[in-house]
Amino acid sequence: MKKFHIVTVAMLSMSVMAAPGFCETKKAEKIDGKAKFEQHCASCHPKGGNIVNAQKSLNKKALAANGIKSEKDVVAKMRNPGPGMTKFDAKAVPDKEATAIAKYILTTFK
Ligand code: HEC
Repeated sequence: MKKFHIVTVAMLSMSVMAAPGFCETKKAEKIDGKAKFEQHCASCHPKGGNIVNAQKSLNKKALAANGIKSEKDVVAKMRNPGPGMTKFDAKAVPDKEATAIAKYILTTFK
C-alpha cells in the first residue's frame, strides 16, 4: 500500500511538471493578438485611441488617412514609429507577434 502511494505521488508530480511545457507549445502555435496589444500598445492606444496624439488613433479612417492600410504597414509603424511612440524592434515584438497585433488592430478598431 505504501509503495502504491509513492508511485501515485511520483506520477502526479511528473504531470504537474509537464504542464508548463505543453502550454509553451500551444502558445507558439497561435498568438493572441489582443493579449499582445494589451501588453505592448494599450497604454497609449486604449481601445484603439491615442492618448499622445489624438489625430493618430488606430481606427480605420485615421490609419488610412495616414497611409496605413495593411498588416505590413502597421508592423512597419512598430519598427519605425513616429514621434512619441515607443519603438518595437524584432527583439521586443517578433514578426509573428507583430503581425498578430496588426491583424487585431485592423479587424477590431473601425
Ligand atoms: C508611448 C506611447 C505609445 C505606445 C506604447 C504605442 N504607441 Fe503607437 N503611437 C503613439 C504615438 C504618439 C503615435 C503617433 C506617431 C506619429 O506622429 O506618427 C502612434 C501611432 C501609431 C500608429 C499610426 C496611427 C495613425 O493613425 O497614423 C500605429 C499603427 C500604432 N501607433 C501602432 C502601435 C502598436 C501596434 C503599438 C504596440 C506594439 C503601439 N502603437 C504602441 C504612441 C504609442
